[in-house]
Amino acid sequence: MSRSTAAALRSDATVHDAEDLDAAVAAVRDQVGWAPEMALILGSGLGRLAEAAHDTTVVSTTDIPHYPTSTVEGHSGTLVFGTLEASRVVFVQGRVHLYEGYPVQQVAMPVRLVHALGADRMLVTNSAGGINRTFEPGTLMFITGHLNMAFASPGVGAGAEPARAHENAAAFYDPAWTTRAEQVAVDLGLEARRGTYAWTLGPNYETKAEVRALEHLGADAVGMSTVPEVLQAHRLGMTVLGLSTITNPAAGLAAGALDHDEVLEVSERVRGDLMELVRGIVRVADE
Ligand code: HPA
Repeated sequence: MSRSTAAALRSDATVHDAEDLDAAVAAVRDQVGWAPEMALILGSGLGRLAEAAHDTTVVSTTDIPHYPTSTVEGHSGTLVFGTLEASRVVFVQGRVHLYEGYPVQQVAMPVRLVHALGADRMLVTNSAGGINRTFEPGTLMFITGHLNMAFASPGVGAGAEPARAHENAAAFYDPAWTTRAEQVAVDLGLEARRGTYAWTLGPNYETKAEVRALEHLGADAVGMSTVPEVLQAHRLGMTVLGLSTITNPAAGLAAGALDHDEVLEVSERVRGDLMELVRGIVRVADE
């Protein structure tokens, strides 16, 4: 491809993207007159965490042009803008997954939206299967690294360039915020661990052989989300904290089959603890 064709493609892609994003931003601003400082992306069964916010304005994602619509039980499609621990935040209840058939750029679109609205911090939560054998269901895990086993990135596209050197060198999960969040967990008497999260495509749970392989590769937990949002946030220069709830032993590590109801049940059980932890995480974000 000639240089000029590549440049044309690049600028074409960017203009469309920017216009789409502008339309989405405008639709939200019609309903919300202030800018969030932080976004909280809520995982399976964790949507109710948004109930802790006050002075809320709820925006249905169906009112936002170009917003991908979630089709999974436990993921309602709303953005809840409100105040939590004196911070202006937006809860994203309506994450979409790569396995729903959206291009990975669309999966990451909510992150671009909240960033364009003003958020420069992101707490991303998920439910995950435990691979580390010491992580019982109910364990909370701060994500300190990830394995991208879906081999996809929202950065891929016409005109994409390798990340700049400082992007590669920087931690995807902010070490300082993570350390402060860990202290919050200790103060609350919660057992929170650190670990590596493996992102798999889904929607099927992993095979036993895959779980064995992931264990060898160094994964502590496995799930079907989070990494696309984190890659996108990192590209945008946002400060990120990742928090998994271990809802089940990963396939083959315990007797019986896995199902989504079990995931929702454990998320429900830890919701009180998680809510307190999330409040603390928001409180210490800027310290
Ligand atoms: N595997 C993948 N995703 C998950 C799991 C799991 O075991 N539990 C919750 N989300």
